[in-house]
Amino acid sequence: MISKQDVSAVILAAGKGKRMKSSLPKVLHKVMGKESLAWVIELAEKITGQQIVVVGHQREMVTTSLSNWGCEVDVVVQDVLDGTGGAVKRALRRIKGDWVLILCGDMPLISARSVRRLFRASISGRPSMLVAETEERGSYGRVWVDEDGLAKRIVEKSDLSGSEDSSLINTGVYFVPKQLLREGLKRIVPNNAQGELYLTDLVQYAYQKKMGFKVVLVDPQECIGINSRKDLALAEEILRRRIINSHLERGVTIHMPETVWIEDGVKIGRDTEIFPFTVIRSRVKIGSYCQIGPFAHIRSGTRIGNNCIVGNFVEVNRSLLSDKVYAKHLTYLGDTVVGEASNIGAGTITANYDGHSKNKTEIGRNAFIGSGAILIAPVKVGNKAIVGAGAVVPKRHNVADGKVVVGVPAKEIRNG
Ligand code: UD1
Ligand code: MG
Repeated sequence: MISKQDVSAVILAAGKGKRMKSSLPKVLHKVMGKESLAWVIELAEKITGQQIVVVGHQREMVTTSLSNWGCEVDVVVQDVLDGTGGAVKRALRRIKGDWVLILCGDMPLISARSVRRLFRASISGRPSMLVAETEERGSYGRVWVDEDGLAKRIVEKSDLSGSEDSSLINTGVYFVPKQLLREGLKRIVPNNAQGELYLTDLVQYAYQKKMGFKVVLVDPQECIGINSRKDLALAEEILRRRIINSHLERGVTIHMPETVWIEDGVKIGRDTEIFPFTVIRSRVKIGSYCQIGPFAHIRSGTRIGNNCIVGNFVEVNRSLLSDKVYAKHLTYLGDTVVGEASNIGAGTITANYDGHSKNKTEIGRNAFIGSGAILIAPVKVGNKAIVGAGAVVPKRHNVADGKVVVGVPAKEIRNG
């Protein structure tokens, strides 16, 4: 058995990504709330002992992101973008394991399960690679396989001659003994339409040396490489479905799931219901027995307790809603903490941004905010306090526990 520590991942992320037509490096485009490269690194961390990322085009931006994510990867620079073969060559000296898993930073849908199947296929010491059978071959490399399931050669779309074609496409995921990789890369020459060093030429080299790559078939849906905006849209649709299904399996009800957008890393408790056209951004946490939506927007940094209702046209951003909070209609809560069982009336706005900085609003327990109230942050509304309909509470004019304020600007009155 090949252990995790024996395997080093080399993740290719140096390419130009011309087809994206973007000023952002292609591997930093987000797929359901998480960058394509971050998805690939997360996969590699699960199954390999070392992760090496090859950067090149716009490398400052990519390395800054790597450090922002706090991942412990080795970074290798590909100074001249001479192809996927050139990229792996640059990483050779840094590889610690005896086995190398090669992944592309633009392929966020590859699953750990599929890569583990590669590991098993290589138990005999042979290299292996993931391929998919599909009619939608696009610009992927075409793979030819012999009767024993060994890859004979890969031809890039732009290098196909005449009517030759194959229904097997190259996913760009390979599992190779380091020794073979080192020898093979020495032999590769830029003999193709793009004048690049193709990593794919390694396959033919290995076959001739009687060390042919064992081919492992995967679902074509896993193999989408994000080369264009169209690919990105397709990848998001597949991932969106995967995420929705994982919540359904955990006991969350999602009505009309085809209209609901839930990004990566969201936690939702059992028996919570999500109504149509709701958007939940990455890393949000929602408790049990809540009702969210229709048309709600729950943004990153938000935590919602149990038994809450966040209804139509309510946006909640970087806020904490304790248990039993109701915000049922037309509200914006930003940088706000709301205590247990408080009611946020229709049309309430927390004015959290003063043009320079974001400020906090604190609402206590069992408070009642009337319809159309504006709370200008920083401001606090105490436990059991009442803010009348249409009131504007100026900043720092905190409302004490149990008090009632009304009007513009809001003033305290004795009886509500
Ligand atoms: C590559 C494969 C193709 C396969 C496809 C799967 C080659 C020659 N072709 O094509 O067979 O079907 O992936 O998605 O390998 N990169 C570098 N340095 C470079 C060039 C590319 O690091 O000099 C990186 C890119 O950032 C990307 C990956 O390598 O993450 C693949 O490069 P890309 O240009 O997307 O190759 P494809 O045309 O997709
Ligand atoms: Mg690609």
